[in-house]
Amino acid sequence: SLATALTSVSLAQDLQGKVIGFSQIGSESGWRAAETSVTKQQAADRGIDLKFADAQQKQENQIKAIRGFIAQGVDAIMVAPVVATGWDDVLTEAKEAEIPVILLDRGVDAPEDLYLTSVASDQVKEGRVAGEWLVAEIGDADCKVVELQGTVGSTPAINRKQGFEEAIAGHDNITIARSQTGDFTRSKGKEVMEGFIKAENGGAYICAVYAHNDDMAVGAIQAIKDAGLKPGTDIKVVSIDAVPDIFAAMAAGEANATVELTPNMAGPAFDALSAYLADGTAPEKFIITESKLYTPADNPQGEYDTRKGLGY
Ligand code: AHR
Repeated sequence: SLATALTSVSLAQDLQGKVIGFSQIGSESGWRAAETSVTKQQAADRGIDLKFADAQQKQENQIKAIRGFIAQGVDAIMVAPVVATGWDDVLTEAKEAEIPVILLDRGVDAPEDLYLTSVASDQVKEGRVAGEWLVAEIGDADCKVVELQGTVGSTPAINRKQGFEEAIAGHDNITIARSQTGDFTRSKGKEVMEGFIKAENGGAYICAVYAHNDDMAVGAIQAIKDAGLKPGTDIKVVSIDAVPDIFAAMAAGEANATVELTPNMAGPAFDALSAYLADGTAPEKFIITESKLYTPADNPQGEYDTRKGLGY
């Protein structure tokens, strides 16, 4: 509509020419790569001069990048924090320099006045949605679950574990037999799943794998196939992100459920920043994105095509 067009024109003008530093974690997953490209696109659409820094999974690199942005006197800083703790000092430095900081997709254990807003999903809910799906799927049958956790110390790993455990609590037929980190990567997900299968009698008694992201699930699917079992049937596969590759697996009958995490964290972040820089409007402290469940009933081939078309 015209109203939407006018809003987007005025937003684009607001941030036109602003210099914004973005400390990204790295490129551990398909979701992360999608977030990076959406962020660059959103910045380009709004005429923002985005300074992009890839931390290669290291918090020390993120802290260095943020200090560099402060020294350059950028207009704002965005950071996707790899782990939850250890941010107080650098966030205080940004605050003292009066540079607003926005957290993207992961949280921090730091006082809330050290950042302007956090744009992220409700990660406990994501775990709960995954767990509730399994509870409904399994019914009264006995079910041994193996869990592939995300990066140790990251909020999605901590919260997705908690949410899933909450959902299966009281369902004594469902137990988490093994749980280990796969670092949110496909290769580590495969390797850890191979270990789980070996340790669990060739995998015969594993009923489901719960992976904290789709990439680890895709790795696990390969490990299940290599062991001569059928992913999606012999071992159910439930994960989080909703990237194209999990929909391809779902279309092939090899994955059963995923919870969507939008890669567009930058859009709401830039909108909030734009209002703040225009007249000091304080955004909501936590801008929460949706957590929608997808199963094979939701046209996985169509979801794959749509997401590929969006440039994932
Ligand atoms: O912080 C979001 C998580 O980080 C995504 O679920 C995962 O794929 C990524 O590595």
